[in-house]
Amino acid sequence: MSIISKDIQKAVQLLNEEHLVAIPTETVYGLAGNIFSEKAIKSIFATKKRPFFNPLIVHVPSVASLNGIVTHIPEKAKLLANAFWPGAMTLVLKKHKNIPDLITAGKDTVAVRVPNHPVTLELLKQLPFPLAAPSANPFGSISPTKAKHVANYFKNQLPMVLDGGACQNGIESTIIGFENEVPVIYRLGALALEDIEAVIGKIEVKNKKEDKPDAPGMLARHYAPQTTTFLVDDVNYEIAKHRHKKIGVIVFEKSVNNANVTEFILSEKGSKKEAAAKLYDTMHTLDHLNLDVIIAERFTEDGLGKSINDRLQRATFSS
Ligand code: TXA
Ligand code: MG
Repeated sequence: MSIISKDIQKAVQLLNEEHLVAIPTETVYGLAGNIFSEKAIKSIFATKKRPFFNPLIVHVPSVASLNGIVTHIPEKAKLLANAFWPGAMTLVLKKHKNIPDLITAGKDTVAVRVPNHPVTLELLKQLPFPLAAPSANPFGSISPTKAKHVANYFKNQLPMVLDGGACQNGIESTIIGFENEVPVIYRLGALALEDIEAVIGKIEVKNKKEDKPDAPGMLARHYAPQTTTFLVDDVNYEIAKHRHKKIGVIVFEKSVNNANVTEFILSEKGSKKEAAAKLYDTMHTLDHLNLDVIIAERFTEDGLGKSINDRLQRATFSS
């Protein structure tokens, strides 16, 4: 029997009993458990084979539910929360002592987010506790944007995937921390840098391994397919280099018109939002075609192009 189901009440029951449920969000599916259950949280790390030094994001139904989770909300964090929650933005704030060290990897901060998905908002409202939820994939692999991606990864290890359809944004939330009240981007994501700057002004991006070696969302190789992947400006040139191999190609809007490759165009109308939404699903599909290489086209570095390039770069060996 499939573990994929739309039954919110069943999810409520499983989570209340300290089990895990994969949940839909507007970014990617999460592997969720009660933040106050040591059993559930340990099971999240074990299921994902995730190292304990990588902290989890806490999901709440509203800004009001941050009471008892964080102790201080900087002015610019309030502006951002008002502008973008529910939405694809995670804020890293000073943690309340109630929050278990397992969630925060012993840090004095906790990552929090109000997700923008009707099914998960309903679920969160019915639960007496917030949900810790990393992306529902084994550590280092491509994040899931459909219920079936999660089921493919964890079919015998998970009681339920709550089906909320395909994720609208398709890449993870943008993570923003505060250093002496000054906002800093720790992970580029589904909320574009320009949109954030429109609300709080210029913001620094510190998303390199050198900046934060202890935050594996920033590992050089992450979000990675099994198939060797290249990120290039000139797709045709790269295809020529691999011409005797089975090649998969991911391009933004224009076909390479080459009958010898398996090609996916992310957005024929040239929308980066559509491209982001389809990116991981396309990578999942290509990764199951037994290809020798995947060649992805680099995006221009503006708007979501920056976030998409970040993920594609981490999907390759060469960063
Ligand atoms: O869109 C998302 O954010 C998805 C959905 C499910 O909400 N979640 C997600 O979680 O991407 P995960 O665990 O795959 O990535 C969480 C990132 C990690 O890179 C982690 O290091 C960082 O958040 N993080 C968590 N707590 C942190 C903290 N206190 N300080 C700095 N980084 C933190
Ligand atoms: Mg992840």
